Amino acid sequence: MAANDKARANMNNDRSHGSGIDRRRFLAGAAAGVAVAAMDRSGRAATETVNTFDLETAPAEVAIAGADYPKTGVFAFNGQVPAPVLRVKQGERLRVAVRNGLDQGTTVHWHGVRLANPMDGVPHLTQPPIGPGETFVYEFEAKDAGTFWYHPHANSAVQVGRGLYGALVVEEHAPVPVDREVLWVLDDWRLRDDARIAPFGNWHDLSHAGRIGNTVTINGKVPDTFKVTGGERIRLRLVNAANARVFGLQFRGHAPWLVALDGHPVAPKPVNGGAVVIAPGARVDLVIDMTAKPGENFDVVDSYYRRFAYKLTEFVYGEDGPIRAQALAPPHRLAANPVAAPALDRAKRFDMTFTGGAMGGMTGATLRGRRLTMRLLAEKGMFWAIDGVAVPNMEEGDPGEPLLTLERGSGAILRWRNDTAFDHPIHLHGHSFHVVSRNGAPLAQPVIRDTVLIPPQQHVDVAFVADNPGDWMLHCHILEHQQSGMMGYIRVEA
Ligand code: C2O
Ligand code: CU
Repeated sequence: MAANDKARANMNNDRSHGSGIDRRRFLAGAAAGVAVAAMDRSGRAATETVNTFDLETAPAEVAIAGADYPKTGVFAFNGQVPAPVLRVKQGERLRVAVRNGLDQGTTVHWHGVRLANPMDGVPHLTQPPIGPGETFVYEFEAKDAGTFWYHPHANSAVQVGRGLYGALVVEEHAPVPVDREVLWVLDDWRLRDDARIAPFGNWHDLSHAGRIGNTVTINGKVPDTFKVTGGERIRLRLVNAANARVFGLQFRGHAPWLVALDGHPVAPKPVNGGAVVIAPGARVDLVIDMTAKPGENFDVVDSYYRRFAYKLTEFVYGEDGPIRAQALAPPHRLAANPVAAPALDRAKRFDMTFTGGAMGGMTGATLRGRRLTMRLLAEKGMFWAIDGVAVPNMEEGDPGEPLLTLERGSGAILRWRNDTAFDHPIHLHGHSFHVVSRNGAPLAQPVIRDTVLIPPQQHVDVAFVADNPGDWMLHCHILEHQQSGMMGYIRVEA
């Protein structure tokens, strides 16, 4: 693996963008892809780089719970959990051939990537599922730099919950200079004593906070300590791939700079004392200066669910260092991605209310045109609704009608109201939105995201330009909520 990394680093230095250059990509455990430049199929620049990758879904056995436990039977891309990191430069294209080695249909959704609708990976809505033994080739441009991720959108709670997820890193042309870049893909598993994955889909998970597990992993392993060197500056990319667990990380003794949310830059600001909140589906980029002394240790604590705070890992300072005598200046603000800013005064406003779940007071909802009581809904495994409609699981082939239809190029402000007793991280496909206000109070610095966490009984306003035509899923990223009614899609007219 180290050798592979080195090979890759060398290749990256050797990046020349002339036409006709072949560039090889190495993925640990993956078939090496070949990158070709100068494929000028649609009048694009002849110097464009296409990065090709091969992914295959299949059952696998991996050691996630540590040496004292047997291996865990998972679903994996290329035998790995997480899947290989796909790394490209902003503006480059990806061509990813996905072969399905599972015995059920799958897809790959490129979470947070603003791409053409047929590449969005939602079964029955944007493509037929990739059947067992079949291959589908995704191809798109990485328009936005930042930290993204990919996962199936078929039988999501099970397929993602069993380990199908990986990071997609799109490098900026002018990244923050750091000594080391680190990626933590966080997950939360519910394992039995023999380290096997517990069954999915019980009603309690569906109707409460989702499938909260008992084993948290970083990059597919129960974390050990994290070794650091005094004085170094680390860029830490965090991805929450868990079905349901929200993380609230406290980096004791350190003041990380928050530099990007869901891939989109923010004005760097120190997270002092507070927790870095990462909801399912979300990403956070931090720049952390290792300012303590050689030999010191500091806990990284997840305190999101206050009564259940636990130590995630520990920064352990080596004996050498510090590697620099003086503190570094704050990191620069990364260049904004080309996301259109909606004109708020001219945008159309829409309300969307999320209801249901235990203790939510929902008495019933409409399912396939019929009004059903809560009890009848529950019998069908449905517990949640958007605007009074429990959307049947579109992953199983019934998308129904769009929640709303927007004219292409128009501005929209959606007020998302959480009228339930639980958190919901609401995710929109195909667009990144500006979070402009929370509970009616405008944000001084609107942030651009693709997933926003809405606590119980709160509301947020998100604004965007509907500039990407197609049918785009909108759903809670707590995958048990999605499965049991909290999903739908919006249509942007062509
Ligand atoms: Cu992470 Cu609908 O997706
Ligand atoms: Cu939810």
